[in-house]
Amino acid sequence: MILVTGGAGFIGANFVLEWLRVTGEPVVNLDKLTYAGNLANLASLKDDPRHVFVRGDIGDQALVERLLAEHRPRAVLNFAAESHVDRSIHGPGDFIQTNVVGTFRLLESVRGYWESLPAPEKDAFRFLHVSTDEVYGSLGPDDPAFSETTRYAPNSPYAASKAGSDHLARAWHHTYGLPVLTTNCSNNYGPFQFPEKLIPLVILNARAGKPLPVYGDGKNVRDWLYVADHCSAIREVLAKGRVGEVYNIGGNAEKQNIEVVTTLCELLDELAPRPAGRHADLITFVKDRPGHDRRYAIDATKVRRELGWSPAHRFEDALGETVKWYLANDAWVKGVQSGACGKWMDVNYAGRAA
Ligand code: NAD
Ligand code: DAU
Repeated sequence: MILVTGGAGFIGANFVLEWLRVTGEPVVNLDKLTYAGNLANLASLKDDPRHVFVRGDIGDQALVERLLAEHRPRAVLNFAAESHVDRSIHGPGDFIQTNVVGTFRLLESVRGYWESLPAPEKDAFRFLHVSTDEVYGSLGPDDPAFSETTRYAPNSPYAASKAGSDHLARAWHHTYGLPVLTTNCSNNYGPFQFPEKLIPLVILNARAGKPLPVYGDGKNVRDWLYVADHCSAIREVLAKGRVGEVYNIGGNAEKQNIEVVTTLCELLDELAPRPAGRHADLITFVKDRPGHDRRYAIDATKVRRELGWSPAHRFEDALGETVKWYLANDAWVKGVQSGACGKWMDVNYAGRAA
């Protein structure tokens, strides 16, 4: 079996669901259930004996060591993190605690377990650390895309904390020989994403007839990847990645934020027309994010060349599927919005007058 951390969050839950569907191999899922963790994402696994959910912190070494000893996983995949840039600006402490200290403690627990394994299991074991393209900083319009050798230059507290966790994972491989694999991925979208992130926020605000907040001039560029493609890339890296290596994962779909928001409005005009007018009428330019990175782009040549992975979904198609998913899953949406979401909207948007 494998042990996944953060498997009740957006990408982790998509990964666990797909992993069980594609491989059938059992999963122990360790998640603290912060505001971003949601057991409703895993509701379809309620009576599935292949999924063992444990509520807990990656930094709780006693708990992690007990889980490793009890379940003897062949791999640990670390998705757990504080993941939202705007929250890291309002309160960086949790990001340092989970992303840096938590990853350090997790690495230590895993190292002790790995060192105790007999030779064949020890050789086959993997620790896969899930990270982000934000560690590389910001690109100018004509700069080449981030490669695995691009210098780290994290700009937000979130990015700096993820960069710290990447360095720890790298050092645990270099110093102790722990078989670490690291992935650095671009912006994901798809089902189960917490609606503090751009795409679900715009879909749900548009449905409710609320303003669609676009930071600054709306011309910041992100590379977008459908979450199922990120999950398939992680499966490939786990199966065939070279130990100690880093793999950049991207969608080859660079878009300005305003293009993404406008496309979402057009999709919604088609799928759920608004009697009062076009959804694009709700677009509202608001005060920019402090230190807002201008452009991210991923050069995913290495993962394609070495592991044969490339994204299976086109941005325009998968964005449409994503909109349909949010429209069809009202109970999930209401559940998420009844929790920590409403308070965050006040914290983040009250001071951003149009
Ligand atoms: P998310 O915020 O939706 O989910 C994070 C999950 O981790 C939640 O279930 C939360 O409860 C759990 N968690 C947080 N702190 C924990 C702790 N101390 N112990 C155990 N569990 C804890 O995040 P996401 O968007 O699914 O991102 C998952 C991973 O992928 C993160 O490491 C993130 O940095 C990385 N990543 C995300 C994106 C993206 O676009 N969302 C892109 C590239 C990389
Ligand atoms: O690049 C990978 C990263 O992508 C991940 O590591 C992060 O976990 C993930 O949150 C995401 O970070 P971003 O900051 O790029 O995502 P977010 O959805 O918050 O914002 C996307 C872009 O949209 C960004 O340029 C900021 C802008 N934005 C965001 C919000 C929430 C707006 O214009 N308005 C908004 O209300």
